[in-house]
Amino acid sequence: MELKGKRIIVTGSARGMGEATLRAYVQAGAHVIGMDVSDEDGAALAEEANKAGPGKASYLHVDIADIDSVEAAFSKAVEALGGLDALAHPAAIQRSSDAGDVTVEDWDLMFAVNVRGTMITNQVAHRHMKVSGGGSIINFGSISGLRPEPSAAAYSAAKGAVHSWTRTAAGTWGVDNVRVNAILPAMATPMYLEAMARTDEAGKEAAYWMNQRTIAMGRAYGDPDKDLGPVMVFFASDASRFITGQLMPVDGGQTSVR
Ligand SMILES: NC(=O)c1ccc[n+]([C@@H]2O[C@H](COP(=O)([O-])OP(=O)(O)OC[C@H]3O[C@@H](n4cnc5c(N)ncnc54)[C@H](O)[C@@H]3O)[C@@H](O)[C@H]2O)c1
Repeated sequence: MELKGKRIIVTGSARGMGEATLRAYVQAGAHVIGMDVSDEDGAALAEEANKAGPGKASYLHVDIADIDSVEAAFSKAVEALGGLDALAHPAAIQRSSDAGDVTVEDWDLMFAVNVRGTMITNQVAHRHMKVSGGGSIINFGSISGLRPEPSAAAYSAAKGAVHSWTRTAAGTWGVDNVRVNAILPAMATPMYLEAMARTDEAGKEAAYWMNQRTIAMGRAYGDPDKDLGPVMVFFASDASRFITGQLMPVDGGQTSVR
């Protein structure tokens, strides 16, 4: 599970699971380039991880919804890394809206960032990985894409699309030795905490029964560094070389035993 010599891009590296993933990869010896729209935090976190070592880290701006931005950032990164072995792609946004109230603007934004962003980053990564002899793409789905999600209609639909895309890309790119999997996490990150902060008391009660109460392991959302980081290392490493097309919950049992 060691990542010494691996060349990796991590999107969404300015906070949450992207931040934890970048740290875990550098700790495992990889050369990592973090990317985000939140440049100040992204650059500071990469510098911190780089100082801690033993791997290396730096930072580049990217807007994953914009193909020109992704092409440019990935080209720069691949040049600096000397190739590409893995893409960890947690960058995404979350919005709350029920099926009746979701606006066209929110729907389009959700699909631009979460779905188009996954397609574009995956396509560009695949192109570079093919040249490097193969690689591992790790997308981020959600339990929200597997079940009805009354409070987040557009987010739920977008995550369902990420699941389908992940399986299709895996089926298409296996011949190039490029693996594509999706993590379905339940982690206490700013995204989760902000969604809870937007929720009224009745919503919080419903979220407790729907989300937290269904987590078998201690009934609490996970810690991104302790509970997700090692899994991200596994999926970027050669230890997972025969795993592709999978939707992998890392959620204390939430998806399976609810
Ligand atoms: N937190 C959870 O429990 C949970 C549950 C299920 C799925 N997920 C998924 O896991 C992934 C990581 O979530 P998180 O909780 O760490 O989120 P987060 O909001 O804490 O972090 C997301 C990061 O993505 C960046 N980002 C947003 N839009 C971007 C864009 N257009 N271009 C580049 N970067 C952009 C943000 O700036 C931020 O740094 C997401 O795909 C999320 O949908 C999270």
